[in-house]
Amino acid sequence: MNGVLDYSAPGKNRPRVPPARARAGSGLTVFVLNFPEIARDGHEHRLPRSALAERSPVNLTIISRLLTPDLLSQITARLASAPWVDGLQTAGPVASKVKRNIQVEATSPEALELGELIKKTLLTNDRFPPLALPRRMTPILFSRYEVGMEYGAHTDDAVRSRDGLRTDLAATLFLSEPDTYDGGELVVNGNKVKPAAGDLVLYPATTIHRVAPVTRGARVAAIFWVQSLVRSSEQRELLLTLHGVLARLGDHPAALSVSSVQQNLLRMWAEP
Ligand code: NI
Repeated sequence: MNGVLDYSAPGKNRPRVPPARARAGSGLTVFVLNFPEIARDGHEHRLPRSALAERSPVNLTIISRLLTPDLLSQITARLASAPWVDGLQTAGPVASKVKRNIQVEATSPEALELGELIKKTLLTNDRFPPLALPRRMTPILFSRYEVGMEYGAHTDDAVRSRDGLRTDLAATLFLSEPDTYDGGELVVNGNKVKPAAGDLVLYPATTIHRVAPVTRGARVAAIFWVQSLVRSSEQRELLLTLHGVLARLGDHPAALSVSSVQQNLLRMWAEP
């Protein structure tokens, strides 16, 4: 994907939800979980002491309901008849020691068409672009973990050899409802998440992460990586805040100055 995204129109991406659910200052409905076993229900789920010892905070964001129920069932139906192959086909030498899953053949019409559909949904979503500031995205990969399958602890390759894309953010779009399978949590720096089908989890690709073994049912997900215009997550965070401020300012006269600061920071930090 090429081109700089347009953040210059205040109010263009107005939040569609009541401000009470929005993150302070951003105007966006995102769930940023600095200690993400505080799950979407707001309750903290304690892990055993052994797990806590390995855990470190991570900036993990869930964009809830990225997919509408219609789109989700359309994707699920199409995947049912797609050609699934061993996930080791796309694993490097390190990953192949810990990766056990199946994936839709990357060159199949199903993978290509559904991938385009999901990319279009991502880029027209009002939360994903300001959060990720995507410069380039990998093709979407569809993975399935059946009973006994897992992806052990690993860090993603920093640069993909096939296209030179730098992996700043990793993304998992969950496609199975959590009550249809056991296990299969995404575990990032020791923090477990298992959101609803249609929810997107974005996390830094720098982390050590894994997919817990599935013990019942099957966990289907779409995954991809993003090279961001702005490499630093702290800088992206500041731009996201300004984006939210602009959305709230609407036609207020101050919007012009805030927009100017936003654009000039992006000019300073962007690596196009
Ligand atoms: Ni990974």
